[in-house]
Amino acid sequence: MKVTNMTFKEGNEFKIRVKPNNDCSSFAINIGHDSENVAMHFNPRFDYNGEENTIIFNTMSGGCWGDEMREGNFPFVRGEECKFHINFSMEQFYIKLPDGSMLNFPNRLGDVKYQHFDVSGDARIVGIKIK
Ligand code: GAL
Repeated sequence: MKVTNMTFKEGNEFKIRVKPNNDCSSFAINIGHDSENVAMHFNPRFDYNGEENTIIFNTMSGGCWGDEMREGNFPFVRGEECKFHINFSMEQFYIKLPDGSMLNFPNRLGDVKYQHFDVSGDARIVGIKIK
């Protein structure tokens, strides 16, 4: 599901609730300029591409993926709604996970405003709020 007409700016707080399907193998939250320029690809993998219970982060620039970053904390359960709080600066994205722990990912595109937002894979958006 894609959200258009949304602007996410440095300093905004973005809250999103997502429900992974009962048979979810992977889902992703993407924030960027468009589908080929994604500043943050946040991709929890329950079981996908040889990866189990791992979060993958990456950036896509001009349609090309950059270097992946991996995170082992995995506070997600298939079929259970999960809540994320996301904000960012020119340098970093800050993500609060459903268990309250925080992750950072570098803002490699370095912009302070993004218009493209989508959730892909085996999950659906339950709610979104930007402040
Ligand atoms: C690929 C996967 C993409 C994306 C990318 C991130 O293997 O097919 O959906 O997650 O890794 O580096």
